[in-house]
Amino acid sequence: MIKSLIQKVISDSYPDINFEVTTPDQKEFGHYSTNIAFVLGKKEKKNPNEIAKSIIETIKPKLEDKIEKTEVIGGYINFFLKNSYLREQLKNIFLDEKYLWNQAQIGKDKKVIIEYSSPNIAKPMHIGHLRSTIIGDALANIYEYTGFNIIRWNFIGDWGTQFGKLIVAYKKWGEQKRLEANPIPYLLELYIRFHEELKNNPSLEKEGQFEFQKLENGDPENKKLWEYFKIKSINEFNRIYEQLNIETDKMVFKGESDYESKLKSIIDNLTQRDIAKESEGALIIELPDLPPAMLRKSDGATLYLTRDLASLEDRVEKKQTKKILYVVANQQALHFEQLFAVAKLLKIDAELVHVKFGMVLGEDGKKLATREGRVVLLQEVINKIEDLAIKTVKEKNPQLDESRSNEVAHAVAIGALKYNDLKQHPYSDITFDWKAMLNLGGNSGPYIQYTFARLNNILEKGGQGETSHLELLTDEQELNLISELLNFPEIIKQCVQLNTANSLALYLYHLASKANHFYETIRILDDQETARKMARLVLIKSVAQILEQGLNLLGIKALKRI
Ligand code: ARG
Repeated sequence: MIKSLIQKVISDSYPDINFEVTTPDQKEFGHYSTNIAFVLGKKEKKNPNEIAKSIIETIKPKLEDKIEKTEVIGGYINFFLKNSYLREQLKNIFLDEKYLWNQAQIGKDKKVIIEYSSPNIAKPMHIGHLRSTIIGDALANIYEYTGFNIIRWNFIGDWGTQFGKLIVAYKKWGEQKRLEANPIPYLLELYIRFHEELKNNPSLEKEGQFEFQKLENGDPENKKLWEYFKIKSINEFNRIYEQLNIETDKMVFKGESDYESKLKSIIDNLTQRDIAKESEGALIIELPDLPPAMLRKSDGATLYLTRDLASLEDRVEKKQTKKILYVVANQQALHFEQLFAVAKLLKIDAELVHVKFGMVLGEDGKKLATREGRVVLLQEVINKIEDLAIKTVKEKNPQLDESRSNEVAHAVAIGALKYNDLKQHPYSDITFDWKAMLNLGGNSGPYIQYTFARLNNILEKGGQGETSHLELLTDEQELNLISELLNFPEIIKQCVQLNTANSLALYLYHLASKANHFYETIRILDDQETARKMARLVLIKSVAQILEQGLNLLGIKALKRI
């Protein structure tokens, strides 16, 4: 709030000037800092240090009760908050659970569709789907927190010529018993076999196309097989979502196949309006600065892009959405550029964002793969991190009984997996360094989870604190922690503006390390001065509360006891 206030006070006095207010990492540069004097100096060709002085004269009276002092260093104006103001803020945070939440409400009366996960049926979920699921779910939680009306959308890949191939393979070589026993790996096996056999028997390609056409035309046998593949696949996805603590009942599941019936009218519309045209038997749309988008192949089959277009129209029209995020890997960047360019030609009135993310690399810096070079399945990743987490948890607390340690290990494992992804900027490739992911002393999910539990342990022993003597919080560390808490809504808003969760992840890490340092250096529970102890407990309680909320937003469980 104070940051926005500083912003407002400055822009009231200096309208139309593009400046920023930041939160410096080093406290000697104040709690907040602004570059306004630079910007103004450049514009008026004056020395920023001189200008800074007159700016301070103008704005200071309006901030008098909150700002202790201002300093000008290298043209920047740095603001230092009053301790009394900080303590008053702590009191508000402690007494009113919604105090910080209120300050983050930028999504009121706005709607957003966040599409994430979107796996393909008849195939196991892989690591790319893991990133989409983790990042998308966190973003959805964060948007929701800021008051947006959100729709979580899962766009299942359940249509396309590959299902013709799969049907051919199943009809030729399939065994129902094996399919029943282990559906997805078996379907994958059949799909791989199809491609193997294709090398010696090129006519299989045509057979595949034919079976897919039959499926498109509603052939009952093919439809039944395809539906069966789909149900089995969705069951499998749900099993994985449960392990990742992803709530599927909040999600809209829509398959690409759901748009089959809409494709004809979309194509007709685009042709009539001369947006799409025939080219060598195919139907394409020419786009400025991009390769043409293909809507229909020369064999008549529609494509991924066509279905995406139909889905986009549906999302915008039926759901009355003005904003859609697609959380999908970098590799599909061109696809989305084309989709968005077509949407522009169609004058679809919505803000469309491709929230991209990079690959997952192994410890060797290469694309994560098994020893045999095959892509790693999501289930294998979950199993591995769970096994490692059990060891970490038992080492840390050998007294924990079996069922408790399993519960803790599960939360820690998923926390490690999610945090490792979210702490990095999504565009970059991320590395799976298993040890670092579970490092209880480093920048990891479990580190924050253990810190949260430790804070709760203090509260259990010392009580929840009370606010009557907050003036006894005089230590630098205490005041720093309070100012850190005030940044929470700013960080959340930033996540929404940038469509990333990494600043929240890192914020929680810094808050946790400051809290750790605080209770390691100051003996809170042993304090003979009860009033001060109570005040410190207020601080501990408030930090714990923010850590808990922040972890929840990232989709990570915060356990009070660990
Ligand atoms: N099913 C696709 C895949 O696994 C991702 C879908 C992305 N979303 C979309 N609207 N195209 O590669």
